[in-house]
Amino acid sequence: MKILVTGGTGFIGSHTVVELQKEGFDVVIVDNLSNSQKWILDAVADISGVKPEFEQFDLADQKLTADFFSRHNDIVGIIHFAAYKAVGESVAKPLLYYRNNLVSLLNILEGMMVHNIPNLVFSSSCTVYGQPDELPVSEKAPIKKAESPYGNTKQISEEIIADTLASSNLKAIALRYFNPIGAHESAKIGELPLGVPNNLVPYITQTAIGIRQELSVFGNDYNTHDGTPIRDYIHVVDLAKAHVIAVKRMIEKQMKNNFEVFNLGTGIGYSVLDVINSFEKVTGIKLPYKIVDRRAGDVEKVWANPAWSNTELGWKAERSLDEMMDSAWKWENYYAKKNNITTKKR
Ligand code: WQD
Repeated sequence: MKILVTGGTGFIGSHTVVELQKEGFDVVIVDNLSNSQKWILDAVADISGVKPEFEQFDLADQKLTADFFSRHNDIVGIIHFAAYKAVGESVAKPLLYYRNNLVSLLNILEGMMVHNIPNLVFSSSCTVYGQPDELPVSEKAPIKKAESPYGNTKQISEEIIADTLASSNLKAIALRYFNPIGAHESAKIGELPLGVPNNLVPYITQTAIGIRQELSVFGNDYNTHDGTPIRDYIHVVDLAKAHVIAVKRMIEKQMKNNFEVFNLGTGIGYSVLDVINSFEKVTGIKLPYKIVDRRAGDVEKVWANPAWSNTELGWKAERSLDEMMDSAWKWENYYAKKNNITTKKR
């Protein structure tokens, strides 16, 4: 059975392709390589033994996307990752984010309607909850006004999907990720931020390897155990496995209704300093960092109540924070060696 994975050369996409192939699915990837690199396909093939089918084009292009679907009538499901996801960039370039993230989704949904592809797994985010009133946050928590155009595109996308399902026989599962970090145990694939990383963990590993001078910790005056913000960090492989379970749930018609939402988190919140301490413990490296002002748009603390995913999906995050940091560090070293990067700026 063939699954379309949009954004499949990206961080979460590539790890999900590996897990899909391990489960015996055929995969076709569509990616415009705007935020990933083509050699990831070979790395996936190294891991799984199978090089996924690949087409490079922009899913925001209606004609190209319609043409793709007319040439691929054996797709039984779609996992839609392809989207821009840098919160800060979305504030600076809102129209770029609304056009790319929403028009791509519209073209995917049109393709599903025209070609009767019934199953969609949508890559959503815990940002839809904003700063939750109650912690841990469950799927029943109210959706809050998005803190960024990026977060708003996730909220609007979920609404577009719900409205489309209401007037069709399509089914969808939205997976709301918390903070995906880490890398595949082979260290052949991982998070590959182009330019200066926005996210914490790639910035930590690039600092440790000498590409960045020191980590800036954005504020230690929050109402948390050590003053730094808390997040629910989840290993990208645990996250990838949840996508395979979601796809199988749809294909095997196990869904309870035609649009289901699941939080994908560990249920454990860690602060920025907890993450740094874990990295130092696991690697033996003293990480240079300084405390600076808060970053605009950051929520103080958020972590998941994963009970619904645990019971209904039969999925549970298994990997610890130490394993996440160890795998992230191994990936950073593998990438540096593969690209014979000395400690020059990237
Ligand atoms: C984590 C913590 C920062 C960098 C974002 C998106 C979310 C999802 C994951 C896509 C925060 C602190 C960070 C740094 C720091 N992406 N930090 N110094 O903002 O929780 O979530 O990425 O779905 O949608 O919003 O992740 O890694 O940027 O930040 O102190 O150099 O690390 O303040 O507390 P975030 P992050």
